Amino acid sequence: MDEYGTVESDILIIGAGGAGMRAALEALDNGSKVTIVTKSVLGKAHTVMAEGGIAASVGDVDPKDNWEVHFSDTVVEGVYIGDWRMAEILAKEAPDRVYELEHFGAIFDRTKEGKIMQRAFGGHTYKRLCHVGDKTGLEIIRTLEDQIIHKDVKVMDEIYITKLFKDKKTGAFCGALGLSMREGKFYLFKAKALMIATGGGGRVFKITSNSWESTGDGLALAYKAGVELRDMEMIQFHPTGMVYPPGVAGLLVTEGVRGEGGILTNTKGERFMLRYSPEKKELDARDVVARSIYYEIQAGRGTEHGGVYLDISHKGTKFIMEKLPGMYMQFKEFAGVDITKEKMEVGPTVHYQMGGIRVDPETGATNIKGIFSAGEVASGLHGANRLGGNSLADILVFGRRTGKAASDYVKKAAQSSPDPKEVKEGMDWAKAFIRPNAKNPNDLIEKLRETMSEKVGIVRNADDLNKALETINALKDELPDIGVSGTLVYNKGLLACFEINNMLIAAEAIVRSAIMRQESRGAHTRSDYPKKSKDWLKNIICKIGSNGSMELTTLPLPEMPEELKKLIKPEVYQ
Ligand code: FUM
Repeated sequence: MDEYGTVESDILIIGAGGAGMRAALEALDNGSKVTIVTKSVLGKAHTVMAEGGIAASVGDVDPKDNWEVHFSDTVVEGVYIGDWRMAEILAKEAPDRVYELEHFGAIFDRTKEGKIMQRAFGGHTYKRLCHVGDKTGLEIIRTLEDQIIHKDVKVMDEIYITKLFKDKKTGAFCGALGLSMREGKFYLFKAKALMIATGGGGRVFKITSNSWESTGDGLALAYKAGVELRDMEMIQFHPTGMVYPPGVAGLLVTEGVRGEGGILTNTKGERFMLRYSPEKKELDARDVVARSIYYEIQAGRGTEHGGVYLDISHKGTKFIMEKLPGMYMQFKEFAGVDITKEKMEVGPTVHYQMGGIRVDPETGATNIKGIFSAGEVASGLHGANRLGGNSLADILVFGRRTGKAASDYVKKAAQSSPDPKEVKEGMDWAKAFIRPNAKNPNDLIEKLRETMSEKVGIVRNADDLNKALETINALKDELPDIGVSGTLVYNKGLLACFEINNMLIAAEAIVRSAIMRQESRGAHTRSDYPKKSKDWLKNIICKIGSNGSMELTTLPLPEMPEELKKLIKPEVYQ
């Protein structure tokens, strides 16, 4: 038997969520041969955790809405370090992506007149979130999946990609090595272009809405291949995750609850958002609401399980069952709470990373030839804080653009062969984790996750961040000793060995960037640097240095054209 199988295509897409699937459809339409690989299964992605809606200024509920306001909201709430061109593209193209989804078969909730129903979300000037109850991400995944399985896209589930290959002469991407966990067999994926669409690394934190897939694999693969990462310190804490029972702590409670009128109170019965944000209240941007909840809990006005209350019961059973059926089921089944009558207990949960792979705004290309990226793993659009619903728009708008750009690229690119010696080294590296009496990788994972949640939380300081870095370095020193028993087939321990290697890279980038950014901006709050600073109107870039260590630099922001600056409320552009 060959030591590995070979799969050849024009474009390899790692990740089978919304961005990967949308890119695959576009690349296919442009004549490319596409393979999607995922360590999980098709459609099992963090996309489904964007529950409350997709942001697009279709103006069906608030006719005053338009792309200009959406653009301004995105830039302002991203606290001015986002890529203005990405924000412009998103705001202009999101409506078409929504209509296209409808043509693909998605069924959005409707107004009485039969238009698309849109709800309010934090930081959006108008009711902008097109939705399907509280299951919008799921409906988008279902729709895209339906397209993919009826088209000529090769999909390989349960493949863990361990290594990327580049052509020695040109430095361009030429292939990837993956282990089929189902078969215990390696595959060499030869392709002219790679699209990284793996989602983010939220699982490096203990309290998170992210499911097991989000271990920063795409970030680490890219980083090791020389791709630049940007603003990795920017981690979004969604204000409302479940806090009880412990088994579901962190599970998302959609912003749709607040969008539909949900009210936050502390244990003294105070509607505390009136103090922190008298105008926008519960519908201020996520960073503001998450910080407010954090301060209430710190001040001793939190619940016994470390949260605050969120109440929607005043809206009545019919309304709740129609608008938020998923939330009703979630609380009933997991916490024994009937949200039509009782308050929910909620607290901040790591939900999204604004930082990630640095991409070209038009094409999703990275600094390494042949490597493209879109979706949560890519960065730029959201700056220091993401508006809810912009991620679903992001995966469709930039998934489509990146699929097209990658397929244009492969039309002109040559396929070169990965070096067989490197392929063998890659397989040997993976196989070496199967060994007796080694350290359990899960112990390292738990230690890392606890450290990140404890020391790299909503409010950070140099002391805690440096302690986190010390732990990360100590865990890195333990990596040569980890391993598991068993074989290459369906070995969860082996998966954990691969994942901890990637998680440590993602965590190190987050912490080093957080140490470097000596200011408070958006989701990054430093108690030792509590103010926003004009000196930090720039991006932080992280890349692998020639000696293999992580190097950080800063990059000035591209100048926004005057006509776009005019769209932004003048008093806030600073
Ligand atoms: O709260 C939510 O439904 C999440 C939406 C999002 O992250 O975009």
